[in-house]
Amino acid sequence: MIRSISKRSRELGTENAFVVLGEVNDLVRKGRDIISFCIGQPDYETPSNIKLAGIKAIENGKHGYTPSSGILELRQAIADYILRTRNLHVDPDDVVVGAGAKPFIMYSVLATTDYGVGNEVIYPNPGFPIYESQIRTMGAVPIPINLHQDRNFSLDANELESKITDNTRLVIINSPHNPTGGSISHKDMDDLADVFRRHPQCWIFADEIYSQLCYDNKFSSLTKHDDLCDRIIISDGVSKTWAMTGWRLGFAANKMLASIFSKWVTNTESCASQISQWAAVEAFSGSQSVAISMKDSFLERRNLIVKLTNELPGVSCLTPGGAFYTWPDVTEACKMVGAVDSEDFRRRLLNDVGVAVLADIHFGERVLESEQHIRFSYAASVDNIKNGIDRIDQFIRNNKR
Ligand SMILES: Cc1ncc(COP(=O)(O)O)c(C=O)c1O
Repeated sequence: MIRSISKRSRELGTENAFVVLGEVNDLVRKGRDIISFCIGQPDYETPSNIKLAGIKAIENGKHGYTPSSGILELRQAIADYILRTRNLHVDPDDVVVGAGAKPFIMYSVLATTDYGVGNEVIYPNPGFPIYESQIRTMGAVPIPINLHQDRNFSLDANELESKITDNTRLVIINSPHNPTGGSISHKDMDDLADVFRRHPQCWIFADEIYSQLCYDNKFSSLTKHDDLCDRIIISDGVSKTWAMTGWRLGFAANKMLASIFSKWVTNTESCASQISQWAAVEAFSGSQSVAISMKDSFLERRNLIVKLTNELPGVSCLTPGGAFYTWPDVTEACKMVGAVDSEDFRRRLLNDVGVAVLADIHFGERVLESEQHIRFSYAASVDNIKNGIDRIDQFIRNNKR
């Protein structure tokens, strides 16, 4: 008997951050001293009031299955959070909780497209690699929309409209954005809203996992356009804002799709961990003081890393408005050291001077072959930022041709 692996599984993509993390761990095991900027998670512990809520849940026996959509207390806390942060009234019954925000990418593709019939999903490029992977594997057609440096990596409404066809079922927007740290301005969001009004067949997946990490301007959400809210899937979670990546807790909110998402959760995870759900109630509705101080420290680090990166030979870096990523242009630096591209540059940084970053190709096809970028996650200590950039400075100067 010849056993085969499904086309679907063969097409499944991955997050290269985890692949690079494997390389880093191998080097660390061999005794190398590595400064890592490659993983997108806060370098803080979960605030203690939230940890205590989790401990209390265990001690009080709250660790069994819950309804697939999540406990009502949490869905109410999320509805209150959405009201507080987006000025939008959402019914707790329209909220579904899952093991992170990530599963809702797959559930949204599954809920809005059919397999192999040419349904198209538009997603940002560069972008979170799971978008393309899930779209392709779920049998829809991935349609990238490029984000440009000269637009500060915001989405261009005209370019979006040029990609929409009768087959478009879902458009994914992500602001603040991974990997560039860019955010969609209020004006651009209004222009996007006009485009969506002209194309009522499109669902919109608003990936707002970095909503609370906006630095210069107030967070702008497409949900301020009331008339579009029935087709916006709001996706957010506790991972980034409250340093809770490993607790695995996120949500999606949409009136029409909530019951569908809930069924998908029943078919996959059954429910999110009850312990994490009680901890998340505290995250969304308890004291925000630690979350605010973590955000303040990310802002300080952003300012530091942007300043230091711009002092590197052959490197220029825009100031990103949110998340904890920078996306410097290393085109000239690659030429200076004879690196064929950003991936070669990244590998040499890791092997020669022990600095781990990701390359643009880990986030989709390079927008312009003539423009090379790398990604830093600056959720790292100030000392690591200073030492890491110092090592890159030495690498470029020592290898200059
Ligand atoms: C853009 C984006 N969306 C979603 C997620 C998933 O977050 P979660 O930990 O809630 O699954 C991430 C995590 O890195 C992300 O960067």
